[in-house]
Parts: sequence; structure tokens; C-alpha cells
Amino acid sequence: MDKLTFDITNTAGAIAPATVNDMQPEAAKALATVEEGTGAGNDYLGWVGLPSSITDEQLEAINMAAAQLQNHCEIVVTIGIGGSYLGAKAVIEALADTFAPYRGDGRTKVVFAGQNIGEDYLFELSRMLRDKKFGIIVISKSGTTTEPAIAFRILREQLEQQVGKEEASKRIVAVTDASHGALRTMADKEGYTSFEIPGNVGGRFSVLTPVGLLPIAVAGYDIKALVEGARRMEQATKAADYASNPALYYAAVRNALYRAGKKIEILVNFNPKLHYFGEWWKQLYGESEGKDGKGIFPAAVDFSTDLHSMGQWIQDGERTIFETVISVERPEHEMLIPTDDENLDGLNYIAGRAVDHVNKMAEIGTRIAHVDGGVPNLRITIPALQETYLGELIYFFEKACGISGYLLGVNPFNQPGVEDYKRNMFALLGKPGYEDQTAAIKAKI
Ligand code: PA5
Repeated sequence: MDKLTFDITNTAGAIAPATVNDMQPEAAKALATVEEGTGAGNDYLGWVGLPSSITDEQLEAINMAAAQLQNHCEIVVTIGIGGSYLGAKAVIEALADTFAPYRGDGRTKVVFAGQNIGEDYLFELSRMLRDKKFGIIVISKSGTTTEPAIAFRILREQLEQQVGKEEASKRIVAVTDASHGALRTMADKEGYTSFEIPGNVGGRFSVLTPVGLLPIAVAGYDIKALVEGARRMEQATKAADYASNPALYYAAVRNALYRAGKKIEILVNFNPKLHYFGEWWKQLYGESEGKDGKGIFPAAVDFSTDLHSMGQWIQDGERTIFETVISVERPEHEMLIPTDDENLDGLNYIAGRAVDHVNKMAEIGTRIAHVDGGVPNLRITIPALQETYLGELIYFFEKACGISGYLLGVNPFNQPGVEDYKRNMFALLGKPGYEDQTAAIKAKI
């Protein structure tokens, strides 16, 4: 197997194959709505043809900016939140050597900021950077989001104090809208290298733009291979039949399950490197589908770790869940379980086996147990955690998300609910323009 595959064999108890087959015309219509741009939010469909439209020159420009940062910096702080953060974090975590920070592998380290408002987080980051050669990639499509703006103000000031304004401006790259927002104004005024986020690509669909590609390239990974994988999936998800379009199939099956009362989808991995892929996926589906009183609630777990915490609930709790497992066929490294003459731990029955063999048996055993316990199981398999397959996976989920949102009957490309907390926060902080709302909000405290 050398590509992503999708399997629904283990959903049979919850939805009859006929139910999914009967949905095919409806799913095909939702696919056409995405492909032809005829649905709600159609001004945000730039991501659909993105992989095939990225040029070698654009990738080269990103790689050159990455090389520039690598040459000047031991550490690059990537500042952004939501869609301006999670894609890069997911890919880097999936590919990175987990213990590289302790080994020193000569790569420029990419760390993240602006994805929270934790004072201690920022203090500790700032303290760590005090004696380091560092640079900044600041990412915000709107250019006005509070969390990254605070982190950028603090870290830019620190960088300017450490190396001077002129050198700092060479170590800062901005990724933002072509013409709007405070970050664009600042980048132009200060002469920062900058990249544009296409106006028709929303944050959570932007990992294959400089938003994701620049930090991934700085971390030392092959963005051409990532885009190549996404291109293959772009081609593979155009057809209107389940057999040749895995994204169409996935979108239809998860909606069939939702209609059958399965309101929560749990994305499962059996590889700790995929933890942040789960976070990226949660944002993609949560922000795209949770609206108008509808939407599958996206949750994620890391197995076998969470079998020892969430396993009980999944096996035995309310039967409103289904699982989508991302299975990685082969690990990058081999590690065998040694023989021990004393065998005090009783493990000699698996001596000589690869650790991954045990993991795979845990995966199969869990699948059987959960299906027996009434949890429908969808399975996505990729050959390995490599750029090209991660590119396939990213585009697969993006395409399925667009189709699925239209099947659900929502606009998958807006996020009106995100504004409510901001309004209240601004009123409480006394932001100019929000004064008349402050009294009403304070009365609710
Ligand atoms: O998907 C989205 O649109 C959001 O999650 C945004 O990416 C997030 O709110 C950050 O916005 P911005 O890039 O404008 O700072």
C-alpha cells in the first residue's frame, strides 16, 4: 500500500450499507457544490485547487525565506492561533524527532507562541530566548487577532533589544493578508519579508499556504513532498463515486452516522506523533460544522495512552460516539523487545517482536472491543509518517470537511460563534469602540 486508504467495514452495526449507498446522490451534490463553488461561503473555496496551483517558484520563495531564518537563528518562534498555527504544529510534530531538543540535531527549532494568553508561558518563552539567536514568523490573516498581537509585541521588542532594530527586521517574517490589517501595515512599514495568505482561503484551510509551509520548511521538512501528496489527493477526490473518492465516502458515512444518533466523532491515533494532527482536525471540523444548532462534536484521543483514561468511557459510556482511526502502517525506526533470561516481567512471549507489532495488536484488539461495545469504527490508513502522506491526509480531511458541511446543511467556511467571546473580552478590557457594552457585560459577572 503506497497511499491513503479508507475502510468502513466496521460500521455495519450502526448503519446499513444501503443507507450510505442511498446517500450517494446527495453526497455527489455536496461535492459539486464544493467543486463548482455554488454554496454558502463560496468566496472561501481557494483551498480546493490550492495544491495543483502552487507553483515551484512559490515553493522556492518559501524555502529561501526559511533558509534565511535557519542561517540567522537557532530558534524561530512561530506566532499565530487557530488556523494560523495548528497545521504547522501538526505536521512538525508528526515528523519531528520527539527528543531532538535534548539531543541537539543541528536543526533550527520551531516553537510556538500567540496560541494562548498564558502569562507564564510567555514569560518562560521570553526567558529561554534571552541568550538565544532567535527569529519570528508572525502569522495572522486578519492581522488583528489579540493573542498573536500580544505575543508579537512582547517578542519583537525583546528581539530588537537583543540584536537592534535593523537586524531584528531581517529575522522577522510576516504572513498575512495582501493589503488589510495591522500586521500588513506593520510589515510594509518595517520592511519585513512577508508572504500573502490568499483572500479566498480561510484560516483552518490554510496549512498548504505560507501559513503552514513556511514554519514547516524552517523546521527542515520537505514542503514540496507535502504539496505533492496533497496534489495526489486533490485529483483523487474529484470523482462523484465512493469507490474512487475516499473523501466523498468519509463525508457521507460520518453524516449517516450522525443521522443515526452518533453525535460525537473521536479521531483516534496509535502514534503519539499524531497528537497535534488531532488538534488540527478538531479545529477544522469544529469550526466548520458546529453551527446553527448542528454538528458532529469532534474529539480526539491518543491510544494506547488514553485507553488508560478515556478507554472506559468509549467502551461502555453513552452510545452516541463513533471512532475514526488514523492507522500508520510502518514506523520510521525499528526497536525490538529484548529477551531476558530471568523473565521476571513475563514479557518473553513477545521477545524479539518489534514494539510496533505490539502496537498493531493493541489497535486490532481495541477495534474489536469497541465495535463489540457498539462504537462504529472508520479506518484511515497511511503508509508512514512522511511529508507526502501527511499532504494526502490534510487534503483528504479538508475536502471531506467541505462536502460534509454541505451535507449537514451549514456554511462550512464561516465561524460567527468565535466572535462572541472576543466582544465580551474587548468590552471588559475597555477596547475603544466597545465602551457601550461594558456595563451590560460587567452586570453578568
Ligand atoms: O479558521 C479560522 O479562520 C480561525 O481559526 C483563524 O485561523 C484564527 O482565528 C486566527 O485568525 P487570524 O489568522 O486572523 O489571526
